[in-house]
Amino acid sequence: PMVEFLNFEVLEDHGWALEDEDLFAKAADANLQSSDFGRFYVDPNDTLLEAAEKNGFAWPFACRGGACTNCAVAVVDGEMPSPASHILPPELTEKGIRLSCIAAPVSDDAKIVYNLKHLPEVSELLL
Ligand code: FES
Repeated sequence: PMVEFLNFEVLEDHGWALEDEDLFAKAADANLQSSDFGRFYVDPNDTLLEAAEKNGFAWPFACRGGACTNCAVAVVDGEMPSPASHILPPELTEKGIRLSCIAAPVSDDAKIVYNLKHLPEVSELLL
């Protein structure tokens, strides 16, 4: 799968919201740093976090086992199944929030906002 990514901290800086329909179009026009906005390919068998690291990006993580939410991302477009065992409550998985250390997109293309640990509903779960 090809993943287009955006740093959640950029949303805060620009006053954008996860729900904005044209979020990635606005990001494309904003002249962002390559670590904040870009794309990479996820090899089959890699988690999204592993794919980001293979491509030279330092995305947040701690436990690498679905137990801490440091690696949380929001799936804005595309399919990224959530494994059965992890710490996220259903309210967050229903909103498309996933843990990048234990999952990866399965659709050909996906739009992902990383650094979701700064979203208040996620940060209150941080361990
Ligand atoms: Fe802890 Fe992913 S790094 S849940």
